[in-house]
Amino acid sequence: EQFAGHLPTRLKGLDDALCGGIPFGVLTELVGPAGIGKTQFCLKISLLASLPASYGGLEGHVVYIDVESKFSSRRIIEIGSTSFPEIFHRKGMAQEMAGRILVLRPTSLSEFTESLQQIKVLLLQQQVKLLVIDSMAALISGEYDQGAPRQHSLGWHISFLKSLAEFSRIPVVVTNQVRSQRRDEVCQYSFQAQKNAETQEGTDKYDSHVVAALGIHWAHSVTIRLVLEAKSGQRYIKVAKSPMSPPIAFPFIITSSGIAL
Ligand code: GTP
Repeated sequence: EQFAGHLPTRLKGLDDALCGGIPFGVLTELVGPAGIGKTQFCLKISLLASLPASYGGLEGHVVYIDVESKFSSRRIIEIGSTSFPEIFHRKGMAQEMAGRILVLRPTSLSEFTESLQQIKVLLLQQQVKLLVIDSMAALISGEYDQGAPRQHSLGWHISFLKSLAEFSRIPVVVTNQVRSQRRDEVCQYSFQAQKNAETQEGTDKYDSHVVAALGIHWAHSVTIRLVLEAKSGQRYIKVAKSPMSPPIAFPFIITSSGIAL
């Protein structure tokens, strides 16, 4: 599969596994339990998308759908000042970087649905280089329980987001919370990874162990799935689904400079 480009995450192992970073034009899902670092990951990549090209950024705007009010400009500036002091110490630069990130806070799914048209226009008119939705599960679960209306609405949103990614050729990153992970998942995983390293079928089979928060239609619609999890106090980020990488996991930490390997 060929992608129009990538947004490097600066997590070297991950970028290598993804052949450069988070691909343009498709949906990438970040899944994991509460507090594992999904939002921290989104803040970091938002910063990277807005950085000047001379620093390896995409020099673009970011549209950030902040469903649970977890976005923090203060934190973006902290991550930026620690990771790129030479840029952020310039006068007015921190504000300029943070100002490139347009944060929308829909309070319901219908408000989000209405804002999708506005988002489409923004993607056409502005130099938007990244769309983040943190989190899709929170948006959907606020509106529906299980059942047909939920599936119908989800199906519509999935199709719309996929087409947004395709026509705008930018990365669309969506977070989802899973309730619990099997305690032995990392061990099972490396065994499974060895067994299935070469086959996409194997990847899918493993994938079905990961409780996809939004069901099977959603699970099949994302091109990349990154699973964040913790074991024995160590956090891991795992490429659980990808057309260009076998399942592979990397340890990470969260510091003042954000997510780091
Ligand atoms: P949910 O939204 O609840 O599903 O969680 P999440 O996966 O989005 O977690 P989030 O990204 O909010 O990560 C929370 C973790 O990030 C905390 O447990 C902290 O370890 C770390 N963290 C959050 N803010 C900071 C910060 O300002 N500095 C540092 N060093 N770590 C932070």
